[in-house]
Amino acid sequence: MNRCSKATLAIISLFISSSIYAQTPAPNPMLVEAGKRLFNSFCIYCHGIDGSGTNAPAADLSGVPTGDLSNKAYMSLLTDEEIINRVAYGEEMYPYLQMPGWRSNLNSEKIIAIVAYVRTLAIDQGPLNGPTPAERLERFKNNPLERGRIYFLRYCSGCHGKKGDGKGWMAAKALSKPVAIGSPKIAPTLTFDKVKSYVTNINRWDKSYMPVFSEEEILPKLPDIIAYIKTLPEQYSDK
Ligand code: HEC
Ligand code: HEC
Repeated sequence: MNRCSKATLAIISLFISSSIYAQTPAPNPMLVEAGKRLFNSFCIYCHGIDGSGTNAPAADLSGVPTGDLSNKAYMSLLTDEEIINRVAYGEEMYPYLQMPGWRSNLNSEKIIAIVAYVRTLAIDQGPLNGPTPAERLERFKNNPLERGRIYFLRYCSGCHGKKGDGKGWMAAKALSKPVAIGSPKIAPTLTFDKVKSYVTNINRWDKSYMPVFSEEEILPKLPDIIAYIKTLPEQYSDK
């Protein structure tokens, strides 16, 4: 065999193997290993070692449940590219996900490696028992109370509690007690202007322990948040 045909053969075999790869994406073990190290340093706090989101030390930090990356029925509805985009851009591209994007911390090679590893976490848990990613996006777009719920969990529940009882995980550490904002006494008194001036600190007392939110970030979300808070008294209990 002369040199030229050897090179041609090499090119052909490269072609064949890459087209096989495209059909059955057998994970590259080195890529998966690199992805595992990155996942374990950047992601497990919220998503857990197994990706299931249970028992993750900081799962509550974000207020919203971190979802189950180990659910095969759900994850198999997403292409690699869709997962890569979720990790890279987070809520900027997928507003129903309350996760900031990682592209300022991780370059695209690293994100590709992480996603190769995330794929290996998926285990068969039977048929999907909940909305698909597309349904979640639809719900988020069309249902103000669903948006309000997600925003409330993310921005307010850490202190005011998931049920609005004032007993969020940060409450014990706050020097002034977060108000039981979802109680039948308080929720009905909350007008847009009142909450707006409170969260953006226009007339706040100087010993307030509530963070000041940027108008740009919080004001567009506030009508949904308030609408959701107004539903909380229906099932209110401070037990
Ligand atoms: C501060 C907590 C936190 C950290 C750290 C974190 N995430 Fe997330 N992640 C979330 C939350 C909250 C969501 C939204 C979950 C939901 O609504 O289903 C999410 C969603 C996702 C989704 C989309 C799931 C879906 O339903 O479409 C992927 C994929 C993901 N995260 C991967 C990662 C990876 C990879 C890392 C590490 C680079 C990471 N996350 C780090 C909190 C976190
Ligand atoms: C880090 C803790 C924390 C977070 C997060 C937080 N709050 Fe508060 N909030 C408090 C505390 C503490 C008080 C009690 C008074 C004070 O210290 O300002 C309070 C009081 C309030 C009050 C005054 C209620 C009244 O009638 O006196 C409103 C309204 C309010 N919060 C709305 C919100 C909304 C809406 C969010 C989410 C966008 C939010 N808070 C997020 C801690 C928090």
